[in-house]
Amino acid sequence: MKRKLLFLFALSIMLMSIQAWAAQGNKENGKTIYDKKCWWCHGDKGAGDGPVAGKYATPRPFSDPYMNARTAGHIYHVVSRGNFVMPSYATQIEPQDRWKIVHYVEQELQKKSQPRATSEEVVSQ
Ligand code: HEC
Repeated sequence: MKRKLLFLFALSIMLMSIQAWAAQGNKENGKTIYDKKCWWCHGDKGAGDGPVAGKYATPRPFSDPYMNARTAGHIYHVVSRGNFVMPSYATQIEPQDRWKIVHYVEQELQKKSQPRATSEEVVSQ
């Protein structure tokens, strides 16, 4: 009985580390694709300061309340369909990879562990 419990405990630790490793991998892949496709305009830290930004149209930084309030679904939609001057990436980036970018944007650029902007703040932008 004790051995069975120990085995289950070890198994769950193993599964948790695999899960953490997979999430990390997702973030890494998301960064790689972001650096290839989005960096040009949005910049490597998402500040809207990529090399093309000034010459074309400058996106807001992902840290400002408006950009910070964009949800995962919305970001996915924008990458898939484009938004005003931003082009669509539907033919260039597979859906799975679009989600990896979304994950990266949320975790690393919007820093979603911080409090989100309230809807009033967003409306007043
Ligand atoms: C050619 C330049 C360019 C590239 C490349 C680009 N964007 Fe944008 N993006 C913009 C500009 C400019 C805006 C702000 C105006 C607009 O929405 O068109 C914007 C807006 C956005 C928004 C906010 C839309 C809203 O709700 O107002 C998101 C989210 C976004 N981009 C994500 C991405 C991601 C993720 C990528 C990479 C797949 C990417 N962008 C690639 C130029 C670009």
